[in-house]
Amino acid sequence: MDMLRVRMSSLLVVSLMVISSLPCSQGYTDEQDVFAINTLYVSLGAPLLPGWRIGGDPCLEAWQGVQCVNSNITAIILNAANLGGQLTNALGNFTSMITIDLSGNHIGGSIPENLPPTLRKFFLAGNQLNGSIPSSLSNLTLLTDMSLTNNILQGELPDAFQTLTGLVNLDLSFNNLSGKLPPSMASLLSLNTLHVQNNHISGTLNVLQDLPLGDLNVENNLFSGPIPQKLLTIPNFKKDGNPFNISSPPSPAPASSSLPPPGAPSSEASSSQNPEPPAKNRNSSTIRFIIYSAIAVASLFVALLLILVCVAKCPKTQKVELGRPKVPVDNEKLISQNNDSGRDVAKSNAEKEKEDEINKTMRGLHAMPSLDANVTENSGVPSDKIQTVTPEKQSPVSSFSIATLQQYTDSFGEENLISNVKLGKVYLAELSDGKLLTVLNIDNADSAMPTDEFLELVSILSGLRHPNVLELVGYCAEFGQRLLVYNHFSRRTLHDILHGGDNIKKKLSWNARVHIALGAARALEYLHEGCQSPVIHENFESACILVDDGLEIRISECGLAPLMVSDSAAQVRARSSYGAPEVSDSGSCTDKSDVYSFGVVMLELLTGHKPYDRSRPREEWHLVRWASSQLYDINALSRMVDTSIDGKFPMKSLSWFADIINRCIQQEPEFRPPMSQVVQDLSRMIEDARTNASTISSSSSEGEAKASEQL
Ligand SMILES: *[C@@H]1O[C@H](CO)[C@@H](O)[C@H](O)[C@H]1NC(C)=O
Ligand SMILES: *[C@@H]1O[C@H](CO)[C@@H](O)[C@H](O)[C@H]1NC(C)=O
Ligand SMILES: *[C@@H]1O[C@H](CO)[C@@H](O)[C@H](O)[C@H]1NC(C)=O
Ligand SMILES: *[C@@H]1O[C@H](CO)[C@@H](O)[C@H](O)[C@H]1NC(C)=O
Ligand SMILES: *[C@@H]1O[C@H](CO)[C@@H](O)[C@H](O)[C@H]1NC(C)=O
Ligand SMILES: *[C@@H]1O[C@H](CO)[C@@H](O)[C@H](O)[C@H]1NC(C)=O
Repeated sequence: MDMLRVRMSSLLVVSLMVISSLPCSQGYTDEQDVFAINTLYVSLGAPLLPGWRIGGDPCLEAWQGVQCVNSNITAIILNAANLGGQLTNALGNFTSMITIDLSGNHIGGSIPENLPPTLRKFFLAGNQLNGSIPSSLSNLTLLTDMSLTNNILQGELPDAFQTLTGLVNLDLSFNNLSGKLPPSMASLLSLNTLHVQNNHISGTLNVLQDLPLGDLNVENNLFSGPIPQKLLTIPNFKKDGNPFNISSPPSPAPASSSLPPPGAPSSEASSSQNPEPPAKNRNSSTIRFIIYSAIAVASLFVALLLILVCVAKCPKTQKVELGRPKVPVDNEKLISQNNDSGRDVAKSNAEKEKEDEINKTMRGLHAMPSLDANVTENSGVPSDKIQTVTPEKQSPVSSFSIATLQQYTDSFGEENLISNVKLGKVYLAELSDGKLLTVLNIDNADSAMPTDEFLELVSILSGLRHPNVLELVGYCAEFGQRLLVYNHFSRRTLHDILHGGDNIKKKLSWNARVHIALGAARALEYLHEGCQSPVIHENFESACILVDDGLEIRISECGLAPLMVSDSAAQVRARSSYGAPEVSDSGSCTDKSDVYSFGVVMLELLTGHKPYDRSRPREEWHLVRWASSQLYDINALSRMVDTSIDGKFPMKSLSWFADIINRCIQQEPEFRPPMSQVVQDLSRMIEDARTNASTISSSSSEGEAKASEQL
C-alpha cells in the first residue's frame, strides 16, 4: 500500500512538473500554426466563421472546423462553407497538418507552391482553382488521399509522383488538365483509385499498367494508343470517350499478360478490397500507425491535464476560452486517420468519403455551439458572488464572433428583437442549451468608437458587478462591429409595465413600487460610489429598469455613455424629459444629473404618468412641472397617486416617498442628495413601514407583502 502511494504521489509530482513547465499564460497554439492559419484566414477574405478571428488562438478557442492535437493544428475542415478568396503559401508553415479539406467552396487562384509536408489528406474539390498542379507535390511524402476534382486546373500533371508511394486515392477529374501522364506515376505503389475523367489528357495509359488499381476512370480525355492488357483486368475501369485506336497493332503483351499484375486484386475480391501493398511499405506503415496512435493517446492525456491546470492556474486565459464551442481533441478520429493512411484500407471511392465529410462539416457548421461551463455557471448567480469567485477583479468576459451571435439571434431576426434603444438594437440570443443572453448591437458602430477604446470600455463594463446591474458577459468587435453581450434578465422594463397599457400595471402595488425604487437606487449608488472608477449613467429612465416576474430589477445601459456620439448625445439628453435642467444648458452630465433622472422615475412610479405626455391635459404634460409644486400638499399628493393602485397605500410612506422625490428633482444640482442618501431614506422608509405594519398585523410586513407579489 505504502509503495503504491509513494509511486502514485511521485507520478503526480512528475505530471505536475511537466504540466507547469508548459506555457499556458499567453498564446497557446504553436506560433507557426497561428501565423499560417491567420494568413490563410486573411487570404480567404476573413469570412464569417464561428470562432475564427484574426489574431485569435485557434486551438484554445476551438475555431470551427479546426482540429488540434495539443497546441498543433492538425486539420482544417471547412467544406461547403461558402469560402472565397485564395489559398496562400503560408500553408507550408503549418507544422503538423494532417488534413486540409476545403471542398465545395469558391476558392480561386492557384494551388500554392508551399504545402505542409506532414499532409496526408488534401481535399480541394469543387472550387475555382486555376493554374497548374505544383510540382512541390513531391514533398508531400505522407499523402494518402488527394482530390482536386471540379476545378479549372490546367497544364500538364507535374512529374512529381516519385515520392508519393503512400497515395491511395487520387481524383483529378473534371478539370482542364492536358499533356501526358508523367512517368513518375509508375511509382504510385499504393494507388487504388485514380480518377482523371473529363480533362484533355493525351498519350497512353502505359504508365499505369503496374499499379495496384481497383478503380480507374479515364473517360472523356484524349488518350490514345492501345490500352495495356493489364488495365483491362481492373474491376472498375471506365474508359469511354477517348480516341483509343483499338485496331492498332495487337497488344505486344504475351499470354502472361492476361494474368493480373503482381499484387493486383483478383476480380471477385477487389471491388471491395484493396490490393496488398508491397510488404516493406506495409510494415513501416503498421509501425507508423502504432507510433501515431500512441502519440495521439498520450497527447489527449496531456491535453486534458493541461486544460485542467490552465483552468485552475491561469484565470486570465479563461477570457478567451469562453463563449466558444469547444472542439475536443478528436482522438478516435486521429487514430482512424492514421489507420486508413497506414494500412491502405480500401475506400469505396473518394467521392463517397467526401460526401460524408461534407455532411459532417455541414452538421458541424449548423450545430449551435454552447457556452462553456464558465459562463453558464455565472448565470443567475448574484453578481456580488462572482467577484468573490474570480480573484483580482478579473471578470470573465468573452469575445464572441459575429457568426456566433448571428446563430444565437437567428441572424438578428425581427423575432429576436427586444427593443430599440438610443444606442442601437437589443436582441434576445438563445444558446443551444437554452441559456439566454441579451445582445446590444450598437448603431453607427464604426463612428462610435475605435476598437482599442471599445475594448477599454468593455474592460470597465466587465468590472461592473452588482445584483441590480445587468451583467456583461461578452462583446464583439469584429469587422468594425460593436456588440455587447449580457446575461439575459428580462424583456420587460418598468416603462413597459407603467405605460404598456395592459393589466400588468394593476399588479404593481405601492410596496412593489417602493421596492423597485430601492433596487434602482442601489444600482445608481453602486455606479456613483461603489465601483472602482465612478460611472455616470447619463441615460437613466424607466426604460432601462428591467423587471422580472418576481419584481426584481436590473439596470441596463450602465457605463455606455461614452458610446453616444458626442454632439447627438448632448441633443438627446437635452431633449430627454428625464434630463436635469443643467444638462440641457451645458450638455454635461454628473452624478447629480443621474439623481435628477432618478427622481423623475420615482415620480413616474408614484403617478403612473410618463415624464412628458401630450395626451394629458395641458398642465400635466410635463410631469415634473406639474407634480413638483404639489409634493408637499398631502391632499393633492394623494390625488396624484397612480389610480391603478386603487388608493391602497400608507399615507406616511407616500409622503416620505414624495419628500425623496422633491429633493432629487431640485433645480440646483448641489441641493440634490447623493444616491447613498436616497438608498438610506428608502430603506428606512421600508423598515419603518414594516415595523408599523407588524404592530398592527404581524402577518403583513413589507417584506412578505412584497415577496408574495408576482407579475
Ligand atoms: C513560413 O515559411 C516560409 C517558407 O518556408 C519561411 O520563410 C517563413 O519564415 C515562415 N514564416 C513563419 C512565421 O514561420
Ligand atoms: C507540435 O509541433 C511541434 C513542431 O513541429 C513538434 O515539435 C511537436 O512534437 C508537435 N506536437 C504534437 C503533439 O504533435
Ligand atoms: C485564376 O484565378 C484568379 C482569381 O480567381 C484570377 O485572377 C486569374 O486571372 C486566374 N488565372 C487564370 C490563368 O485563369
Ligand atoms: C520541396 O522539395 C524541393 C526539393 O525536392 C525543395 O527544393 C523545395 O524547397 C521543397 N518545397 C517545400 C515547400 O518544402
Ligand atoms: C482549358 O485549357 C485550354 C488550353 O489548354 C484553354 O484554351 C481553355 O480556355 C481552357 N478552358 C477553360 C474552361 O479554362
Ligand atoms: C494509334 O495512335 C497512336 C498514337 O496517336 C499512333 O501513333 C498510331 O499510329 C495509331 N495507330 C493507328 C492504327 O491508328
